[in-house]
Amino acid sequence: MMTRTLPIAGRASATPIDPSLDLDEEIARLKKEKNAVILAHYYQDSEVQDVADFIGDSLQLAQAAAKTKADVICFAGVHFMAETAKILNPDKVVVVPDMEAGCSLASGAPAAKIAAWKARHPGAVLASYINCSAEVKALSDYIVTSSNAEKIVGQIPANQTVLFAPDKNLGGYLVKKLGRSMVLWPGTCIVHDTFSERKLIGLKERHPGALVLAHPECDDVILRMADYVGSTTGILNFATKSDAKTFIVATEPGILHQMAKAAPDKELIAAPPEASCACNECPHMKKNTLEKVYLALRDLEPRLEMDEALLRAARVPIDRMLAMSA
Ligand code: 13P
Ligand code: SF4
Repeated sequence: MMTRTLPIAGRASATPIDPSLDLDEEIARLKKEKNAVILAHYYQDSEVQDVADFIGDSLQLAQAAAKTKADVICFAGVHFMAETAKILNPDKVVVVPDMEAGCSLASGAPAAKIAAWKARHPGAVLASYINCSAEVKALSDYIVTSSNAEKIVGQIPANQTVLFAPDKNLGGYLVKKLGRSMVLWPGTCIVHDTFSERKLIGLKERHPGALVLAHPECDDVILRMADYVGSTTGILNFATKSDAKTFIVATEPGILHQMAKAAPDKELIAAPPEASCACNECPHMKKNTLEKVYLALRDLEPRLEMDEALLRAARVPIDRMLAMSA
C-alpha cells in the first residue's frame, strides 16, 4: 500500500495516510463514529470549510461550542478559538488540526506583560479582544469579539477607565465609534496590517460602484475608506443583503468562499496587500489542512489540555460576554 507521511505539530513521529482514501468520506465517517463536530472559521481553506458542521465568526463559534452536544470538538481555527471551546467544554475532547496555529495578536500580548500593564492602572477594567491567550482572558473583566465589541464596551459604565487589549486598531475604532477614551495595548494583526491604502484607492477608481467592506482589525486609513466595518459574519451578511453588485473585501480572503456561495451574483474583490505577496492570507489559519482534520479526528490528537484553575478563571469573562451579547 502506498502511503505518504505528514508531520503533525506536537508529535514526534510522522503519521502515514493512505493516499487513496476519500478524505471527505472518511471525515464524515469519523464524525459519526466519534460523535464529533467540526467547527471552522471563515479563514480556513475552502476544503476545510466544506467538511465543517458549523462555520462562523469568533462569537458564533464560541456560541456553537457552548451549545454542542457532541463528545468531540474538532476546532478548525486558531489556538485561542480552540481554547475558548475548551473553556466552555472542560469535559469534552477538543482537538486542533495543527496546534501551532497561533495568532499575532495573542502572541503579542503575553499574560505577564498584560498583568504588569494592569497593575500600572489601578482601578481600571480590562476589556480584551477574544484574540488573546486563556491566561490573558483570566486577567480580563470583559471579553469582546469584533461582532459584539461595540455592544459590550458600550455597557461599561462611562466613569470607568478601560484598558483595551490586544488590538489597537479595533480599540481605536471603538474609541471613535463610542466616543469614549480607552487605554490601548499596541498590538496589531499581521494580516490586517498589510492592506494597501494606495492599491485600495486604485481599485475604487477602477470599480466606481464597489463598496469597501473592512474588518475592524484593519488600520484606520483602510477603515476610513470603508462603507461597512464589521466582523467576518457581518461582512458576509452585508454583501448578501446589499443591492450593490461589487465589493472590495478588506479581510482574510478565506471569507470569499462563503460570500461567493451566499451571493453568487456579486463580484467579490480581495483587497490587496502593499507587497506582491500572499500576506493577506493568515499563515496560522492556513496551517490547518484537510489531511490534518482527518488525522485529528482519527487519532483524537493533537488534543487541547488546560489547567483546571485556568479553565475556571478564563470562563468568567467568557460567560459574561455570552450573557452580554445575547
Ligand atoms: P471574526 O470574529 O470577525 O471572525 O474575526 C476573527 C479574526 O481572527 C479576524 O482576524
Ligand atoms: Fe490572528 Fe490576524 Fe490570523 Fe485573525 S487573521 S487569527 S487576528 S493573525
